[in-house]
Amino acid sequence: MRILVIGGAGYIGSHAAREFLDQGHEVTVYDNFSSGLKENIFPEEKLIEGDIMDYPFLLESMKQGFDAIILLAAFKAVGESMIQPEKYAVNNISGTINILNAAVNSGVKYIIFSSSAAVYGEPQYLPIDEKHPLNPENFYGFTKVEIERLLGWYDRLKNLRFASLRYFNACGYDVKGRVTGREKNPANLIPVIMEAACGMRQEVCIFGNDYDTPDGTCIRDYIHVNDLAGGHAAALDYISRNDKSITVNLGSETGLSVLQIVDYARKVTGVNIPSRIDGRRAGDPARLTASARYALDTLGWKAQYSDPETLIRTSWNVYRKHI
Ligand code: UFG
Repeated sequence: MRILVIGGAGYIGSHAAREFLDQGHEVTVYDNFSSGLKENIFPEEKLIEGDIMDYPFLLESMKQGFDAIILLAAFKAVGESMIQPEKYAVNNISGTINILNAAVNSGVKYIIFSSSAAVYGEPQYLPIDEKHPLNPENFYGFTKVEIERLLGWYDRLKNLRFASLRYFNACGYDVKGRVTGREKNPANLIPVIMEAACGMRQEVCIFGNDYDTPDGTCIRDYIHVNDLAGGHAAALDYISRNDKSITVNLGSETGLSVLQIVDYARKVTGVNIPSRIDGRRAGDPARLTASARYALDTLGWKAQYSDPETLIRTSWNVYRKHI
């Protein structure tokens, strides 16, 4: 297929693009490099440098003729979304409306959307399956819910088939070492730990150790980015074969605490990574784990690379070069 990866120079986008190239698709990346990196562009890809807010340019670009769009261009800092909702409303929601309109006006048939476990909010039960009520606790999660609702309407009214992939905690780097771009100003746990391990920051602040969990720190479902990339390919295959849209969790089904991750990182890197217990971060649920049963039943997808050793080792392979 001819695939346009919007946000393909970013962390997850570059891994997804790599997967589609490996499967023999023709890949074009559309990115404005606000957070994406030039080094994440592969030689086999075509590149369109553009912004999703520039509708005429987006439409003209899409008229080159694509079968499918992979939509990853979005802001994703949960904390920032609570302080600057306007920024998230414009880029994530209006930007996506531009993409959907350009898609239906240029004959695109399929769209794969990067949604998030943030759509669920504080869990009412665990593991979280796709039937769990949607009750986002932050504006970022709200933008994902709104876009899922838009996708439902464009499916119904315009026959644009979609897969909405609700990622849990994305982390790790390409197991074959082909993606090497580090995120700018990371706030997520594993890149923060990696920066501390190579001396780019003083220490890791652990946000709270008084949660109702075995070691008092929050439990998350960490999913390797190569597993997520495989999920995109499986989802495109599913919606194109079945002419049917789907909304599905992508998680490892394993819960790891912040302290467990820090311990694994110390073992794998051999560095005594400095850490400090800090206060709780607002809006953090104590536990979040996915049921990925539906992904297995529908897409035949299951996490393969999401054991803690692989998550940390593949990240360390990228970060250690910067010591
Ligand atoms: N944490 C720390 N110190 C840090 C960073 C994080 O202790 O410096 C803790 C957090 O408090 C949390 C855990 O590590 O308990 C994971 O935090 P992240 O910021 O890495 O990830 P979140 O669970 O907050 O959110 C991530 C994505 C969201 C997505 C969510 C889904 O950033 O987009 O996973 O589970 F919605």
